[in-house]
This record gives sequence, C-alpha cells and structure tokens, in this order.
Amino acid sequence: MTFQHEPVLVEPVLELLQPRPGGHYLDGTVGGGGHAAALLTAAPDAHLLGLDQDDEALAAAAARLAPFGDRVTLRRARYSTMAEVAHQLGWNQVDGILLDIGVSSHQINTPIRGFAHRFDGPLDMRMDRRQSLTASGLLNHTSEEELARIFRDYGEEPRARALAHAVAVRRREAPWERTGELAELAAAVCGGHQRSLPGATRAFQALRIAVNDELGELERGLRAAHDLLAPGGRLAVISFHSLEDRLVKNFFRDAAAACLCPPGLPECRCGKVVTLHVVTRKPIFARPAELAANPRSAPARLRVAERLPPRKG
Ligand SMILES: C[S@@+](CC[C@H](N)C(=O)[O-])C[C@H]1O[C@@H](n2cnc3c(N)ncnc32)[C@H](O)[C@@H]1O
Repeated sequence: MTFQHEPVLVEPVLELLQPRPGGHYLDGTVGGGGHAAALLTAAPDAHLLGLDQDDEALAAAAARLAPFGDRVTLRRARYSTMAEVAHQLGWNQVDGILLDIGVSSHQINTPIRGFAHRFDGPLDMRMDRRQSLTASGLLNHTSEEELARIFRDYGEEPRARALAHAVAVRRREAPWERTGELAELAAAVCGGHQRSLPGATRAFQALRIAVNDELGELERGLRAAHDLLAPGGRLAVISFHSLEDRLVKNFFRDAAAACLCPPGLPECRCGKVVTLHVVTRKPIFARPAELAANPRSAPARLRVAERLPPRKG
C-alpha cells in the first residue's frame, strides 16, 4: 500500500519557521516527509533530523527524502525524546522544530491499524507497534471508572459513563477485538445509527489519545522542544483538536509571561524568566484554497513561538 498523506498548512509553516540555508531543523513527526521536503527545498544546505514512532511512516519518509541525501537523518523515536536523539548526532541546539501532531491519513486509512471507525479491523490504534498496550487491551482491562474518564476527558463525550458501562457489560460476554463492534456500540449509546456519526468519532479519538498517551507526549515534547531551541529558533506546532491546542496555547503563554505569581501579591516573588516570544497571537487555519483541495486541513491550527535568550522580566 502506498503512503498517502497530504501535509497541511505548508505555506504558513515555512513563512513562520523561516528556515535558513545551512540551519539545523528537527521534524518531530516526520510522517510521509511532506513538510520535511518543503523545508529542505526552501533552505538549501539545511540539515533535518526527522523522528517518527511509526515504522511505516519512517519507511515512507526515507523514500521521499532520499533525494536530499545526507542532509537528512531519520530516527524511530517519540518526539518527547528529541533532545537525546539530537545530542547523539552532536546537535546541542536546533534552529527550528516542527510538531504536526496526531495521526496521518495513512494510519487512518489502513484498516489493520485500527484507527478508523468506518473500517472494520483489529482494535489496535498503536502508532508505535513495539508498544504492548493496544485499544483492545485498554477496553478489556481498564476499570469502568477509568474508561469513563478517558471517554469524557479525551473524547469530550457527554455520555461517557453510559458508554464505559456498556463496554464493561459487553466484555463479560466476549473480549473486545474489532473496530466495527465498538463503532456500533458507540453509535448506539452516544447517538445515531450509523458508524460515521459523531458518537463513534468521539470514542475512537478518546481511545487513540489514551493508547498513545498523546497529551502526555505533547506536554513532554513542548518542554523538550523549548529546551533544545537555540535563541532566535522557532517552534511550530500544528494540532487538530482543542485539547491539544489548549496545551500548546497555555505552554506558550506561560513561557512568554514575565510573572506567574498569584494575583494580588504586592510584588513578584516567582523569579520567572521570559523564554518565549509568541509569534502567532491567534492560531492560523488553512486558507480557502487549501480547504477546498484538502478537507482534512479544516481542523488543523498552527501556533508558532520563538525562543528568546534567557532574561528576567
Ligand atoms: C499528521 S502526521 C505528520 C505528517 C507529516 N508532517 C508529513 O508532512 O507527512 C503525524 C505523524 O506523527 C507521528 N507521531 C505522532 N505522535 C508522535 C510522537 N509522540 N512521537 C513521534 N511521532 C509521533 C505519527 O506516527 C504520524 O506519522
């Protein structure tokens, strides 16, 4: 199966990341290499370290980026470990970092990966298939209370408790194995009669986030990216739903704040150092031409911040 994934927001990423010839860049979610190829084309002689935890993505990126020769290094790794991987290459700092988080079209469109409620397949959902926890493992072995938390917090599902209860009742009869079974149950419990309706979408999003610890990865990855950036270097993050976007927005806001003391103190006691300048006050969305050509770009939003040399206030 060929790897299909159309990169989103490529133009604003390049405009705001401002890659320069000879610079060192890190793509923490290299996927099929679409953004990476655009960056390497825009910045002659720049070097790029591309990470992905998915072996299929890395194979696709290797093929796509082969024309750039030794300007590209690819590693199978989670982006939260970017500093360790960069240091192994002798890169102590980088000039720019891109995180285009979430799943690729290839992952969604490959039934055996189990990410999509509209295809029947095994309940897998692992981006890194070396990991032992799968979606079926989670559904079969997690307490009803924890499942309810997952559906509520990660899927923003109003009927999270009812869905968790139905999952727990069903597994007493037979273990969870197939995406189609979960899609049917989620549609029945959370609304609608067809697999494509939002109940199943929310349940699948929640499970995917939990299986891959996506929000934990993002929190650790933002911190790692912040620490690895050279002064003047930029971090660009593309997210696809409000849970992720909120984490990015708050991380940027806190790093750009001069003081994080509770309100009402007569003077600052926190000793906070301003380390980021927020380049995008508001998130950037796809322009109409991109929306028309690639509907998957609709929920994508880009935020960019620049690393400042450490200074007080
Ligand atoms: C939206 S796609 C990126 C597409 C890429 N920008 C392109 O142009 O083809 C997201 C990719 O990030 C990878 N990914 C998600 N979370 C990751 C993490 N914590 N560490 C490493 N890779 C991750 C996924 O496996 C997937 O291949």
